[in-house]
Amino acid sequence: MNEPRTTTTRRSESASSSNGSGPASDRSRRTGDEAPGRVRGIVESFRQRWTAILSSQRFQRWSAAFPLTRPIALSRSRQVFDICAGFVYSQTLLALIRLDLFDRLARGPVRVSVLAREFDVPPDRLRRFLGAGVTIRLLRWAGSDGVGLGPLGAPLVGNESVARMVEHNVLLYRDLEDPLALLYGETREGEGLKGYWPYAGRADREGLDPDDVAPYSELMAGSQPMVAQEVLDGYDFHDHHHVLDVGGGKGAFLRAVGRRHADLRLTLLDLPPVVEVARRNLDDFPDPSRLTLVGGDFLRDRIPTGADLITLVRILHDHEDEDVVKLLRRIRTVIPPDGTLLVAEPMAGIRGAETVGTAYFALYLMAMGQGRPRTPDELTGLLKQAGFSRIRHPRPRSPVLTSLLIARP
Ligand SMILES: C[S@@+](CC[C@H](N)C(=O)[O-])C[C@H]1O[C@@H](n2cnc3c(N)ncnc32)[C@H](O)[C@@H]1O
Repeated sequence: MNEPRTTTTRRSESASSSNGSGPASDRSRRTGDEAPGRVRGIVESFRQRWTAILSSQRFQRWSAAFPLTRPIALSRSRQVFDICAGFVYSQTLLALIRLDLFDRLARGPVRVSVLAREFDVPPDRLRRFLGAGVTIRLLRWAGSDGVGLGPLGAPLVGNESVARMVEHNVLLYRDLEDPLALLYGETREGEGLKGYWPYAGRADREGLDPDDVAPYSELMAGSQPMVAQEVLDGYDFHDHHHVLDVGGGKGAFLRAVGRRHADLRLTLLDLPPVVEVARRNLDDFPDPSRLTLVGGDFLRDRIPTGADLITLVRILHDHEDEDVVKLLRRIRTVIPPDGTLLVAEPMAGIRGAETVGTAYFALYLMAMGQGRPRTPDELTGLLKQAGFSRIRHPRPRSPVLTSLLIARP
């Protein structure tokens, strides 16, 4: 049995794994060894020197006092502070959502004293809490005793999907309470995000119950309208006659597709318990003869044939490389020669959305216990391994929500 490891053991292990010279020096030595060109070596050594200057306390004191560098120094220290305080900001947002304050203020500012009576909390205490919301621009002060919606709070009015997303982040924060436990793969099965996404790391996926899959299916369906709009605006569905949405959840994406393209045939494939949930959700679909729901495991069971457009919306990042290639190969066998595969998900390394793919989802999927966000190049490599050759990555319009890859056999 593995002994529980303490933070100190973990840290000393990682230090000894670099031949006793410490991870930092190991990293810099590797960078030097691997740099292919002289120019890159020179740039790197310049960066190293600059980093050494930045970490010197003498330089920090000087740059904070010198008028020309003062604004930069101030802005950097503010950025570092914001990283440290990030959790306070997220919890402020969570509190305002739980108080239903964004919807409450939708019709205009309200006096703090009135809200304090409503929430049964001392006005001074509430004012301090609201002040936190004001500084992160979710709220704004209005007059001497009023509070209204701030520029970042206004888009949250009536936004159930963001509210649900923020609420479910509580599980992620639980997994991140000891970030080194996450790094070392020591979070517990069935708890936190691993419990929330029960198909992750589980071989008997079809044995799941509709109650197990309903919470995540609901969450996904909530955010789907925004994602579907991005996909439908980013790719022209007009040339197709039949769409198969693999891992289509409750069917929110296909509902949006069907609304925009009334002549398309639509097929959804997902795990049987999810399809049961989808069947109930799509009960009122306007033209049920266009719609087919198929329950099955996309890594094991038959992939439905007949579609000339196959969509993978927020699917591949949930799986390890081996399963991604397996799934793509299975799709490759059913897609016609003139068919198209459309991959839509938040990707890593996308300019303007680095924190989404490379920070948030990297740790999120680690906590979930399966998958990783990938760059468009990494996904292209996996698509090629699976037999796709003509692959395009259109410039994403809202990369925070999703990026697209369009592949043909
Ligand atoms: C992150 S959700 C995305 C759902 C939907 N595409 C969306 O964007 O709203 C991943 C979906 O893949 C489904 N899924 C995961 N593994 C599967 C498998 N082996 N076979 C079929 N479906 C699977 C899950 O049930 C879930 O509905």
